[in-house]
Amino acid sequence: MSLRAKDMSLLLLLILIHGLDGEEYNKVHLILTNETMETRISFTSGRRITVRETPTQLLCNSTTKSTINSCYIECSSFSQNKGFTEPKIFDLEILKEWDSTRVDFSIGNHSSNCTVVDCLPDDIRKLLEEKAKTMNIPTDMRNILNIKTMCKNVIFHEAVLDTYISVEKKAIHGIINMNNSEQSKTCYQEDLSILAVKMNLSKTNDFVQIAAPGVFSYDEVADTQIPVEAFKNESERKFGIVTYYSDQHLKFKVKNKYFASNVIRIEVPGRHIVNLINPLNVSFKLNYIKDTPLDLKNYNRSCQFYDENGDRTWKTDGCNTTLISDNVVECYCNHMTPFAVLLIDSTISEKQWEILSYISYAGCSVSAFFSAITVLSFIFNSNARAEVSSSIHVSLSGALFLLNISFMFSEWGATLTVKEVCVFIAVTIHYSLLCTFTWMAIEALHLYLLLVRVFNIYVRYYMVKLSLIGWGVPAVIVGGLMSVNNIYGITEITFSDTNTTNEICWIRDRHVLYGVNISYFSIIFMFNLAILITVSRQIFKLRRVGNRHDKMPVWKDAGTVLGLMCLVGTTWGLAFFSSGYNNYPILYLFCILNTMQGFYIFVWMCGTARKNRAQTSHPKSKSTLDSSK
Ligand SMILES: *[C@@H]1O[C@H](CO)[C@@H](O)[C@H](O)[C@H]1NC(C)=O
Ligand SMILES: *[C@@H]1O[C@H](CO)[C@@H](O)[C@H](O)[C@H]1NC(C)=O
Ligand SMILES: *[C@@H]1O[C@H](CO)[C@@H](O)[C@H](O)[C@H]1NC(C)=O
Ligand SMILES: *[C@@H]1O[C@H](CO)[C@@H](O)[C@H](O)[C@H]1NC(C)=O
Ligand SMILES: *[C@@H]1O[C@H](CO)[C@@H](O)[C@H](O)[C@H]1NC(C)=O
Ligand SMILES: *[C@@H]1O[C@H](CO)[C@@H](O)[C@H](O)[C@H]1NC(C)=O
Ligand SMILES: *[C@@H]1O[C@H](CO)[C@@H](O)[C@H](O)[C@H]1NC(C)=O
Ligand SMILES: *[C@@H]1O[C@H](CO)[C@@H](O)[C@H](O)[C@H]1NC(C)=O
Ligand SMILES: *[C@@H]1O[C@H](CO)[C@@H](O)[C@H](O)[C@H]1NC(C)=O
Ligand SMILES: *[C@@H]1O[C@H](CO)[C@@H](O)[C@H](O)[C@H]1NC(C)=O
Ligand SMILES: *[C@@H]1O[C@H](CO)[C@@H](O)[C@H](O)[C@H]1NC(C)=O
Repeated sequence: MSLRAKDMSLLLLLILIHGLDGEEYNKVHLILTNETMETRISFTSGRRITVRETPTQLLCNSTTKSTINSCYIECSSFSQNKGFTEPKIFDLEILKEWDSTRVDFSIGNHSSNCTVVDCLPDDIRKLLEEKAKTMNIPTDMRNILNIKTMCKNVIFHEAVLDTYISVEKKAIHGIINMNNSEQSKTCYQEDLSILAVKMNLSKTNDFVQIAAPGVFSYDEVADTQIPVEAFKNESERKFGIVTYYSDQHLKFKVKNKYFASNVIRIEVPGRHIVNLINPLNVSFKLNYIKDTPLDLKNYNRSCQFYDENGDRTWKTDGCNTTLISDNVVECYCNHMTPFAVLLIDSTISEKQWEILSYISYAGCSVSAFFSAITVLSFIFNSNARAEVSSSIHVSLSGALFLLNISFMFSEWGATLTVKEVCVFIAVTIHYSLLCTFTWMAIEALHLYLLLVRVFNIYVRYYMVKLSLIGWGVPAVIVGGLMSVNNIYGITEITFSDTNTTNEICWIRDRHVLYGVNISYFSIIFMFNLAILITVSRQIFKLRRVGNRHDKMPVWKDAGTVLGLMCLVGTTWGLAFFSSGYNNYPILYLFCILNTMQGFYIFVWMCGTARKNRAQTSHPKSKSTLDSSK
């Protein structure tokens, strides 16, 4: 018998409200038109619930003065819900008001009891946990699947998904364990079918062969051969084969993998079956493959299982794949879990991608290493500390160090469940990127003051002022962006060569990403270019007036700053702006350029240090700026 028919009368609550008069409270109006049943419920609190049920969907929304939420509603049997044409009105009585988002009430002198919950993560999680405790099979199987369809978006919420998956599994076990005299029985729901089988172990061989149930009997999904070795010590064993039709919750967060078959799960209530000697044999019909917009030549079929006890991803451990034909794949696995056939991109495998990631981490590490050395040598070198130029180089190195380190956490942060960590990483990356740009402008500004604005201007708190600009301006920009909601966080980047995506912690809004960063970088680049031009002109003028060779290094420094500017701009432009970041040549380029940056500053700093040592022996050439720290 199908559960579906039974449920219609259980849940079918009902009701269409027609022309609800705003002053009527605690009333339930039902209207049946055509195949649509609409229920409108109004509470004294001002909350209104609208439920619309058609043969294909069940919608519920909950409205108060200030909010609209989707909601989940569940009622015990309600006999008045059939065969009426005129709208019906019932009184309702509040049984329990949990909080502003959940209420239990009864309709028509307790002839039906209902509960209605807004689809909010905490409420739905609590409801699911409650169902797990007082699981009432088979009604709760339907109820749990209804929670999934009515509160779709909330089920995928990280705080809910795990609970949902384990409660659903418990309900499936309940269905399998139901008492029935038949040898096997299929329970069809819209979202999944469960075939419950009683295995008579006294007469079986090594395997029991069973076809996974489809939506319709002719819709073959898979054949299974289930080894009985794990049950040899038992006389009878119940198990179930589940076919999912609505399996999005199991595919959540699956990146760069496509499903070629239904998800099937093999469940043995009360047992956790692993390390089978005779593998389980599931022969999948790849019914999804015709709907895939992918070029199948580039994809390999792969048998994978959903690791619900581990990190809840799809894996291949313990499973072997045998291709029988284009549309049939046999999977041999040594455990009983949810399975499916996935399409795996064979052009850029995960392993290769991993290697590329390590290469880019290596670039960042080398750059961070040299930046750190620059900073450390500054800290332990009192001579250098007295130098404003060194202080500026070190600040630049510090910003670059922060940028490299935070960039390395960017991919990792996106995998965490705590969103705030990802936001923090994204903010740090952006802040240090802007600081790096700003300090490069300061380098140029300093050179300009040193050379052009003559030598005897005394600027009070010179280094303090520069630091305020260097660390402060980016802080103001980033702080301003942070006050806008949702600017930073998990964002997807697409690999240009394969169209696959990856998640990193970065700026979510494209307009902010391009607008703020490109304009900021452009302004600073123009500024530095202008300074280089001014400096060169000044040098030529000085040359004509008299031989001032000792200013040549300044000219060189200006070129160095501009070179660094291009280097850093190109490197991080590749990483963040170009959608082509993720293909081999660009990744290698990113890595090489990145490695060079830290090293570049390090060499420059060493050069400056040597120059300073030379200058210490000719103190006359020391400028006021350099000693005004
Ligand atoms: C009701 O059903 C009839 C025929 O089945 C159809 O013509 C009509 O549009 C339907 N009305 C509504 C409101 O769906
Ligand atoms: C609430 O649901 C009803 C029917 O289910 C629909 O007519 C109405 O537009 C919905 N209201 C809002 C605000 O979504
Ligand atoms: C509910 O009970 C009251 C009296 O207890 C009765 O007047 C009323 O008709 C009943 N309503 C329904 C829908 O049974
Ligand atoms: C509804 O709840 C009331 C009291 O909580 C109970 O007396 C009544 O039998 C329930 N009705 C149904 C249909 O379960
Ligand atoms: C099945 O029946 C047995 C005894 O006949 C009973 O102890 C058990 O609770 C029943 N299980 C379910 C799920 O109804
Ligand atoms: C299992 O099979 C044996 C032999 O065919 C039979 O005697 C026994 O009654 C069966 N048990 C059940 C529970 O069907
Ligand atoms: C696996 O199952 C399929 C279909 O049931 C069957 O054709 C095939 O021979 C089985 N493979 C093995 C090694 O038993
Ligand atoms: C059979 O053995 C397994 C472990 O090997 C055990 O978990 C299970 O309870 C046993 N069943 C019976 C009926 O003894
Ligand atoms: C998969 O293949 C390997 C090598 O052929 C074999 O050792 C292993 O037992 C197989 N695993 C399963 C689950 O069939
Ligand atoms: C895809 O299959 C081909 C041939 O069967 C094999 O050479 C290749 O290594 C596979 N690629 C992946 C990513 O498994
Ligand atoms: C990537 O997607 C675009 C548009 O969706 C398509 O035109 C292009 O061919 C795809 N490239 C690859 C390599 O799949």
